[in-house]
Amino acid sequence: MTTTAQTEPKRHAIFLPFAGGGLGPRTNNETMINRAWLGINDIENRIYLSRLFPQTEAAQREWWLKSDTDKELVFVIYLGAEAIGTMGVHHIDYVHGHATTGTLIWSAKHRNQGIATKAKLVLLEYLFDTLNLRRVYSRYIDYNKRSARYSDKCGYVEVARIPGHLRFGPMLADDVTLMCERATWLPCFLNYQAEHPTPHTREQFIIKHREEAGK
Ligand SMILES: CC(C)(COP(=O)(O)OP(=O)(O)OC[C@H]1O[C@@H](n2cnc3c(N)ncnc32)[C@H](O)[C@@H]1OP(=O)(O)O)[C@@H](O)C(=O)NCCC(=O)NCCS
Repeated sequence: MTTTAQTEPKRHAIFLPFAGGGLGPRTNNETMINRAWLGINDIENRIYLSRLFPQTEAAQREWWLKSDTDKELVFVIYLGAEAIGTMGVHHIDYVHGHATTGTLIWSAKHRNQGIATKAKLVLLEYLFDTLNLRRVYSRYIDYNKRSARYSDKCGYVEVARIPGHLRFGPMLADDVTLMCERATWLPCFLNYQAEHPTPHTREQFIIKHREEAGK
């Protein structure tokens, strides 16, 4: 009898803490997969996502269980120990130094509490100061004012808008592209740090250790 070797998905092992929670890797936890599947099919979420068709359980499971790569990292948003959504970093391009992020908080009970703002601010620190990206993009449908507001709080600015690009029955909506650079993110991050003191930005941490090492 021959057996076929099963390839285990290779996931990143990065954990980025923020006040009250953190961003971590996807795990094989069934409850988490089920919550993610219910979350992406929630009508209140779907109206803000450009792909309108329901996500099948099989498609959700396949996406959830796949590996991270050098082009795509998916993070789970944790509130304490509870998984409440995802924050993906897609189309990572090290040559030109950019990537595109997308966020989904699964349940309404966790929205509008500042969680995505805190999570995105620490994710951007990782993208700018560890991966050395220059620009991080995000897209939203013009009526998603909450997405626009939370992005603004993280330092994103509008750089492109395609009028009427999206069609929902008789209604058209603009496809808006936002861009964040280190210079616009940093003041937002420092404000966040002032409210939620953490020991350091990565840069400050390196400076501290260099000083201690007499460099
Ligand atoms: C968009 C999303 C990621 C934001 O996460 P969140 O944790 O709810 O966001 P935050 O609480 O950090 O910030 C939301 C901000 O928008 C504001 N807001 C909420 N609804 C708003 C509206 N209709 N118009 C303007 N601002 C609004 C909130 O008051 C808050 O701003 P404030 O802190 O100044 O009061 C999350 O709500 C979500 O997953 N939504 C459904 C899916 C989605 O839209 N994903 C993004 C696709 S681009």
